[in-house]
Amino acid sequence: MIRVAIDGPAGVGKSSTSKALAKYFGYAYLDTGAMYRACAWWCLQQGIDLDAEQVDERLVTETVGEFFTGDHFDISVDPDNPRVFADGEDISEAIRSAEVSSHVSKVSNVIPVRNVLIAAQRAYIAREASADSFSEGAGVVAEGRDITTVVAPDAEVRVLLTAREEVRQARRTGQTAAAPGVGTDDVAARDKADSKVTSFLTAAEGVTTVDNSDMDFAQTLDVLIRIVEDAV
Ligand code: C5P
Repeated sequence: MIRVAIDGPAGVGKSSTSKALAKYFGYAYLDTGAMYRACAWWCLQQGIDLDAEQVDERLVTETVGEFFTGDHFDISVDPDNPRVFADGEDISEAIRSAEVSSHVSKVSNVIPVRNVLIAAQRAYIAREASADSFSEGAGVVAEGRDITTVVAPDAEVRVLLTAREEVRQARRTGQTAAAPGVGTDDVAARDKADSKVTSFLTAAEGVTTVDNSDMDFAQTLDVLIRIVEDAV
C-alpha cells in the first residue's frame, strides 16, 4: 500500500496532476479540497450567511456534521471519474463555482469542521488500504493543504507542489475562462485565508518540494511519477 500525499496552494495544478498520477499507477484519488467545497456548497444551500465577518461557527459545525453523519455526502475516489454527491445529486461542477471558491475558506477555517473532515479523509485513505482492496499495487493519492502534515504525515510519499503566485493566478484564470459560468477565483486571497489554519507555503520536514513554475503539465507529472517510483 502506497499513500501519496500532495499539498500546495491554489492554482498550482494539484488536482489535475494528482488525478493523472493516480491513474498512471492505478491508485485511488482523494480530492480533499472537493470535500471542503462540498461543505461550503451545502452551508450556502442551507442559507447560512458565509459573508458575515464572523461566521456562526457553531451553526456551520452543526450543519457540516449533519452533512456527514446524516449520510448526505458521498465522493468517488475513482481517478477516471472523481465525483462528489449531496443526497445523490452530482455537485462536482457546482462546487467549482466562484460563489463556492470565494466562501470555502470561511468554512475550512472552522477547526471543528476540519476535525470532521480530517477524520473522514483518514477513513477514506485507510479504506483503500483495507483487506478487501489491499493488493500489492494498491495505493491512494490524496491532495490538499494539510495532507503531508496532518491527515497523513506518515504517508510513504509526501510532496509540496508549488509555483510562483503570478503563474498560479494565470493558470487558474485560464482554467476559469475555459469553463463558462465558473467565474473568477482570487488565488492569493484564498491562500492568505487558508494559511491561517494550514501550512502549505513551505514544506514540512521530510516533504519534497516540486516548484512547477517553469514546467508544463507533462513535465510536472513526470517528476511526480519518478518520485513515486523511487518510493515503491
Ligand atoms: O484544492 P481546492 O482549491 O479545491 O480547495 C478548496 C479549499 O478547500 C481551499 O481553498 C481550502 O480552504 C480548503 N482546503 C483545506 N484543506 C485541504 C484542502 C482544501 O482547508 N486539505
